[in-house]
Amino acid sequence: MVIMRYCYKGGTFWEWELRKDGYIVSRVSTRLDSPEEVCVLGLTTEPQFRRQGYATALLQHVLQYHGEQGVDVAWLMVTTGNPARELYRKLGFREVADPDGYVCVMKKKLQPRKEGLSDVRAR
Ligand SMILES: CC(C)(COP(=O)(O)OP(=O)(O)OC[C@H]1O[C@@H](n2cnc3c(N)ncnc32)[C@H](O)[C@@H]1OP(=O)(O)O)[C@@H](O)C(=O)NCCC(=O)NCCS
Repeated sequence: MVIMRYCYKGGTFWEWELRKDGYIVSRVSTRLDSPEEVCVLGLTTEPQFRRQGYATALLQHVLQYHGEQGVDVAWLMVTTGNPARELYRKLGFREVADPDGYVCVMKKKLQPRKEGLSDVRAR
């Protein structure tokens, strides 16, 4: 398992890929909204690789990276019926607003310390 990181727009936008055996299995993007806050966008796992822990492993890695870079908070938007909401909860995101009942905003405080990747494991 390898995680690739591509940085654009003067260091304010990243695309991330989790690859396994040459396949791109999961993707996500992140956008720095301020020095303290990063937005998580477009988390996706290819259908044949779902429920094997890949999105969790990728997002854990991404959040660790931004935390170590000094970012304080990660946030995202998710539709209320999306099973991804449970994934985000498991990673420590919490709902902070439910603007129209269809989409909710979730936030997580990031850890500045190095947690190590030993607990990032796909099944
Ligand atoms: C959401 C998505 C990224 C999850 O990817 P994944 O690699 O399958 O996620 P993981 O295997 O890391 O799942 C971790 C946990 O999230 C929850 N989860 C993920 N998919 C789920 C589903 N379809 N139904 C219920 N719970 C689900 C479970 O709690 C799961 O843990 P478990 O398998 O031990 O029960 C994937 O389903 C996807 O690409 N969906 C379409 C795009 C999308 O909606 N992205 C979210 C944008 S906000």
